[in-house]
Order: sequence, then structure tokens, then C-alpha cells
Amino acid sequence: MTPRETEPDSGGGHANRPIGNSTIVAYPTQAAAVLPITLKFEEVVYKVKRGAKGWWPSSSSPAEKTILDGITGVVCPGELLAMLGPSGSGKTTLLTALGGRLRGKLAGKITYNGHPFTGVVKRRTGFVAQDDVLYPHLTVSETLTFTALLRLPGSLSRTDKAHQAQLVISEMGLNRVAHSMIGGARGVRGVSGGERKRVSIGLELLVDPSLLLLDEPTSGLDSTTAARIVATLRRLAVEKGRTVVTTIHQPSSRLYRMFDKLVLLSEGNAIYYGPAAAAVDYFASVGFPAPIDGVNPADFLLDLANGRFHGPLAHIGLHI
Ligand SMILES: Nc1ncnc2c1ncn2[C@@H]1O[C@H](COP(=O)(O)OP(=O)(O)OP(=O)(O)O)[C@@H](O)[C@H]1O
Ligand SMILES: [Mg+2]
Repeated sequence: MTPRETEPDSGGGHANRPIGNSTIVAYPTQAAAVLPITLKFEEVVYKVKRGAKGWWPSSSSPAEKTILDGITGVVCPGELLAMLGPSGSGKTTLLTALGGRLRGKLAGKITYNGHPFTGVVKRRTGFVAQDDVLYPHLTVSETLTFTALLRLPGSLSRTDKAHQAQLVISEMGLNRVAHSMIGGARGVRGVSGGERKRVSIGLELLVDPSLLLLDEPTSGLDSTTAARIVATLRRLAVEKGRTVVTTIHQPSSRLYRMFDKLVLLSEGNAIYYGPAAAAVDYFASVGFPAPIDGVNPADFLLDLANGRFHGPLAHIGLHI
């Protein structure tokens, strides 16, 4: 939790609007002019030096390992892009690159409204990492309130900031555990892993980012909670014009249907980029039909990314 520079607030209120059986929070910070961000990435290549300091001599392998191999795509305000792929396929690396946090040999072009990563974009970007970094001895409510006090603009009163934290607690379904310790450190028992993840997402929602990047926000959650989180992300995109990019691990078909766009990664290559709803038909059109109607598209796509498929071209890979 680091204090973050915030935009000046124009002093609007923060009414809540009921949406279905949940609530969309109108954040005080949002009263400032919203900066819609179009994120474009073109031919992104990322390489790392291989085994320079490793214990095993690697004279036979090339000096560099390609982690990302020419990934291209665009995400507009109002869209939710999911990155899917097997473990080690490069999802976290690509997300980190898009968040302007990747150091090292990064080639290609990543632009935000046509410009490179700047301080303004950084302030407008929320990044939820795969591993949660939270203070184990604070309660959920304390964690969000302290962050609200640090991150929200000085033009808001302490009461408004605390209220803001409470709104996020409600939105993330954390009321029941608001006064439980986060826990997680050795010997400190606290909230569940899923609840911890929701706190991490809530911390980024406090400042209502224009660009929200999340690394596996649903891992370790039951399918209902996972769907609720992705529905929240989708609402942030569609109703509030945010640009949302998330990596995802094993989404259910219900969850998959909420994605607008999909990048399917396999060993650092994008084997599909386009509308999520068109991915299965695309693979069928190039000779890789889904095995049966009604199969979870994500399972089918992950099988493909792992080189497991059937259909007319099955002889070049493993049979399911
Ligand atoms: N700095 C680095 N040095 C060496 N290898 C790296 C580095 N960063 C990433 N890798 C390798 O790149 C590959 C992709 O890693 P990445 O964390 O992006 O995968 P992922 O798709 O997020 O996997 P997971 O689903 O397990 O989180 C992995 O094989 C990883 O070991
Ligand atoms: Mg990862």
C-alpha cells in the first residue's frame, strides 16, 4: 500500500445506483474528468537471458529465452479482455508489460491513447497482482479505510474517504468479514484466500482506475464468487467506460461468456486474439472443432493451447 497521487476532485457526490441485485458504486474520485484509455499493444516481444548465473551449464541452449513472441491487440474503454493460457504461457508477463511494470528486453509498441506509458496513465492504472500483498494484522475494514485515507484526494473529508471504503467493502461482498483480520502470515489466522483476493481488488477500485489490470483475480474462488467478481469487472467496463484486462485460470462457461475479447496464449505466442464469443467458431473453421456441443469453451481452448485436440488435424497433436 503506497500513497498515490490523485486527481483533483470536482466535488460531486457519490450516489449508488441499484443494478439487478447488486449495487454500482459511484466513486467520489470519478467526479473528476474520467480519462478513457485505449490500450494498444503491437508485436510485443520479451526475451530474458537464459541461465547466465544458473548452476547448470547451458552451452547447448540459446543464450536467450523468448517469453512473449509478437503479441498484438487492442482494448478499448468499455471492454473486458481476458488472457487465457496454460501455466507458463506468458499471461503474467504480458499483463505486467501492459501495466508498464516490466523491466528488461521488451520490444514492440505498447500505447495508451496513442502515447507511451506516462505518470498520468500510471495514476489511472490499477494493478491487482497474482499474489496478494496485505498487512496480515489489519482488519479488512482497516485495510481499505487506511488506503482510502492515503490514496483519495485531499479535497475529500476523512468521513467521505471512510465512507468510500465502506462502499467498496459492500461492493466486494466483504461486509461479513469487515472486522476480521486479514491474516495469512505465519501463525496469523484470518480471512479466506478468496476474501483476501477481494480485498486486493477493492484496494484498486477505491481510486476508480481508468485501466484495471488483474492477474488471476478468481483463482481459489468458488464459481459463484468468481462469477460475481467478473460481473463486477464487466460492469466497471461496460457501465463506467473502464478498460479492463484480466488473466484468468480455468473460467467456467458462465464466466467465459462475460469476456468481450480474448487473447489465447501458448508458449508466448497468441494463437487467438479477437472476440471471445467467436473463438470456438474460429478454431472450427481452421480444422479444430470443439469435441461436443455445450463443452466449456475455456476448457476446449486451453486444450488447444496445450496441443491437445481432435478433428481433421488431430494427427499433428495429442488426442483428447
Ligand atoms: N525474468 C524471467 N526470467 C526467466 N524466466 C522468466 C522470467 N519471467 C518469466 N519467465 C518465464 O516465462 C514463462 C511465462 O511466465 P508467466 O509468469 O508469464 O506465466 P503465466 O502464464 O502467468 O503462468 P501461471 O499461469 O503459472 O501464472 C515461464 O516459463 C516463466 O518461468
Ligand atoms: Mg501468472
